Amino acid sequence: MIKVAPSILAADPINLERDVRRAAEAGCDWLHVDVMDAHFVPNLAYTPDIVRRLKQTFDVPLDVHLMMDHPEILADAFLDAGADILTIHAEIDADIPALLEKIRRHGAHPGIALKPGTPLDAVNAYRDMADLILTMTVEPGFGGQKLDENVIGKMKALRDSGYTGYIEADGGLREDNLQILIDAGLTAAVMGTALFRNEDMPGAIERIHRMNRAG
Ligand code: DX5
Ligand code: ZN
Repeated sequence: MIKVAPSILAADPINLERDVRRAAEAGCDWLHVDVMDAHFVPNLAYTPDIVRRLKQTFDVPLDVHLMMDHPEILADAFLDAGADILTIHAEIDADIPALLEKIRRHGAHPGIALKPGTPLDAVNAYRDMADLILTMTVEPGFGGQKLDENVIGKMKALRDSGYTGYIEADGGLREDNLQILIDAGLTAAVMGTALFRNEDMPGAIERIHRMNRAG
């Protein structure tokens, strides 16, 4: 069953508890928490304290997406705060295998994210160290963008290459464009705008849970 991960970047920041409770009660599988450093991406978002309070308040696994040039600075803080999945970007200039090992040693699931323009072979050397590969379907930094369909080929190539971990997509996902992603091998859907602007979040999540890979 497809994991549905509402992205709280699309929630109302001054009513975060209300919106997260709505998502949790609607049956979401994970909460996607975007972290931005205003350097890797031209925006700022969420802190270890928010992750800690989410962990203390809700019983939903936290899928934390570090859009940071130096995730090593705060990886321990996010892990100690309760991140269940911690995803770093393949484009950074850091010791990625060491970071992935640290995340796993801490008991969390390591993830690797690729911007739309980054080729799959950027992760070949260590993709089997990642439980999740996030093939971003928009340029990271902002919600509400249009899905880049060129990424679908990357997702299919990754799944066809035998990768058995989660393939997650993030940015511009809606109910009406999910099936083609699922057929390409998607198993985790990050959805911000399409869920938090949806009056019928439980219905949307239930319909997505019924979607399967065709053929
Ligand atoms: C973009 C973020 C996405 C975004 C979701 O950098 O990583 O998680 O919030 O986008 P939408 O609102 O298009 O689902
Ligand atoms: Zn994200």
